[in-house]
Amino acid sequence: MSTIRRLPPLSRRALLTGAAGAATIAVAPRFATPAIAQTSPLKVGLMLPYTGTFAKLGQFIDDGFRLRVEQAGGKLGGRDVTFVQVDDESKPEAATDNMNRLVGREKVDVVVGTVHSGVAMAMVKVARDSGTLLIIPNAGANDATGPACAPNIFRTSFSNWQTTFPMGKVMADAGIKNVVTITWKYTAGAEMVGAFAENFTRNGGKIVEDLTLPFPQVEFQALITRIAQLKPDAVFSFFAGGGAVKFVKDYAAAGLNKTIPLYGAGFLTDGTIEAQGEAANGIKTTLHYADNLDNPANVAFLKAFKAKTQKDGDIYAVQGFDAAALLDIGLGAVKGDAGARDTMIKAMAAAKIDSPRGPLSFNKAHNPIQNIYLREVKNGRNEMVSIAQAAVDDPARGCKMT
Ligand code: BEZ
Repeated sequence: MSTIRRLPPLSRRALLTGAAGAATIAVAPRFATPAIAQTSPLKVGLMLPYTGTFAKLGQFIDDGFRLRVEQAGGKLGGRDVTFVQVDDESKPEAATDNMNRLVGREKVDVVVGTVHSGVAMAMVKVARDSGTLLIIPNAGANDATGPACAPNIFRTSFSNWQTTFPMGKVMADAGIKNVVTITWKYTAGAEMVGAFAENFTRNGGKIVEDLTLPFPQVEFQALITRIAQLKPDAVFSFFAGGGAVKFVKDYAAAGLNKTIPLYGAGFLTDGTIEAQGEAANGIKTTLHYADNLDNPANVAFLKAFKAKTQKDGDIYAVQGFDAAALLDIGLGAVKGDAGARDTMIKAMAAAKIDSPRGPLSFNKAHNPIQNIYLREVKNGRNEMVSIAQAAVDDPARGCKMT
């Protein structure tokens, strides 16, 4: 059985004064304390965007996580689960306060979050300082499993490097020589474009111009006009959620989809495809998921997700589902005793999950090792074209596990 409680949004005043406790909460390392009674429910903090341009992404992660808990009889590692939910609004400036509310005041056993790389890095800092177990179900900030890696931090999604590095070779192999990149100016955009460019230029390609606009702005017109002037062989892009819907529609409305092929990180068309409609047809992306993966785990997942939510599952739902699966494995190894830190972490680090995305395991920095698929939008679905690169392992630059 699981219950849920929603924390109210932080007031503007609390944010400005730090009244919610941004830097003031001294949190004792949670795993240093003796094991709590295994009979009390496990308290899970869900820190996700439920409003703003990434709202749908947060809701699908939440739905996927709860689906996996329901499939385990409402339990994780044999323990009932209680949820405390916070809307992080994809606002880095509120992230430390929000995380401190969950860790310091609510004393959750584990935090699951979030979507936005900038918010995630603030969460990582609190998790490192407090020792709280953190599972990142989307945000790809390379540093979270790079220099800021820690035993108590896991990711069930991807590093920003991981999803787009393979696309550099895919596009060069397709004979594309000149590319314009376009993205939001923040960590995820810079890292995804950077990884693509690293592999594209290594394979003989040239970046003609990097175009950016501030997150989460969606006034694309001037940048689309610039692309039309530059006439590259192709465009590579990262947008997600509501912003991706608008970009793909604007690009098609300008007629550029007929002359300059649009490529991107898979977030461009995942969870957005229905709203994009015909404008998305033919877009090629790389991601650790495709709608038509016909492995039994994906077929069962999509059916169960539809039955629970009446919606089609996507990568965000998969990442939430796998976050619960990972936690179940860790807690199962210690019979629900979240205080048995070392054994639990060891089991999570060694986990081999039969994920809807295909085989999922973890590297020494606790980042997924997984296939990256080349997909193309056909018939309103992200259909797999090929495995762009198998078992991709993030280099985990700067990670020293202590
Ligand atoms: C990020 O900020 O890391 C991110 C947001 C949405 C989709 C993918 C990555």
